[in-house]
Amino acid sequence: MGLIKYIKEEMQIIRERDPAIRSSMEVFLYPSFRAILHYRLAHKLYKRKHYFWARWISQRTARKTGIEIHPGATIGKGLFIDHGHGVVIGETTIIGDNVTLYQGVTLGGTGKEKGKRHPTIGNNVMISAGAKVLGSFTIGENSKIGAGSVVLSEVPPNSTVVGVPGRVVKRDNVRLPREDMDQVHLPDPYKRDVINLRKENDCLKGDLKNICDRFDRLEKMILDINKTMESKENKDK
Ligand SMILES: CC(C)(COP(=O)(O)OP(=O)(O)OC[C@H]1O[C@@H](n2cnc3c(N)ncnc32)[C@H](O)[C@@H]1OP(=O)(O)O)[C@@H](O)C(=O)NCCC(=O)NCCS
Repeated sequence: MGLIKYIKEEMQIIRERDPAIRSSMEVFLYPSFRAILHYRLAHKLYKRKHYFWARWISQRTARKTGIEIHPGATIGKGLFIDHGHGVVIGETTIIGDNVTLYQGVTLGGTGKEKGKRHPTIGNNVMISAGAKVLGSFTIGENSKIGAGSVVLSEVPPNSTVVGVPGRVVKRDNVRLPREDMDQVHLPDPYKRDVINLRKENDCLKGDLKNICDRFDRLEKMILDINKTMESKENKDK
């Protein structure tokens, strides 16, 4: 793609997605503009196995913009990184088209996987400020990841994910039901787990009580039978 075409496209993307922009010239001030332009160059070098120069461009850009994109990452059209500082995109990340990332987003690995270690982000996904997506799973297209979330597993398309660890709270724009005892009107995964454990514990206590009652009854029956047999034997004598 020619540089002029790239600049025009970037202007359009930034104008569409950032209400703060007032004039097209401001696009040159966006760290996202610079970081993605440099990434495209570094990625070409990476594919031609010029790993050192690819990383050199990537690290230099990271120092200037606060956005670190590994040149090995695969990025589709229309990526916009708003504000940008603290964004890290790992080597085996795959990003679809028209994705929006905010400052502080990490598309990283857990350190436990080999080969493809980083996430695959579907088309039109928005990942909010400070969110961390860690591991080699897919974020389904049109999904939104809430600010500050830590997403550790697959997200189906058209979902909203919030919390630590990230939980789907909305699918196809419909809120998913929550537990009755959620008292603070916020999705709280830890509280949910505690509630589930309490419910399971109550069930187990109930089951144990039933078993004990049955055992007592059985013991009583055996004692009665023994007594009857003893008295029968005494009579027979
Ligand atoms: C997730 C987000 C995109 C909203 O998506 P949405 O699909 O419209 O979801 P809703 O606003 O209906 O929220 C769904 C539920 O998640 C909760 N929620 C939303 N964002 C949350 C977050 N970041 N952390 C925890 N809970 C959150 C809401 O309170 C709501 O809970 P409820 O069902 O009990 O009312 C938005 O809340 C968000 O995080 N935006 C941040 C954007 C950003 O990074 N801006 C930086 C600009 S510099």
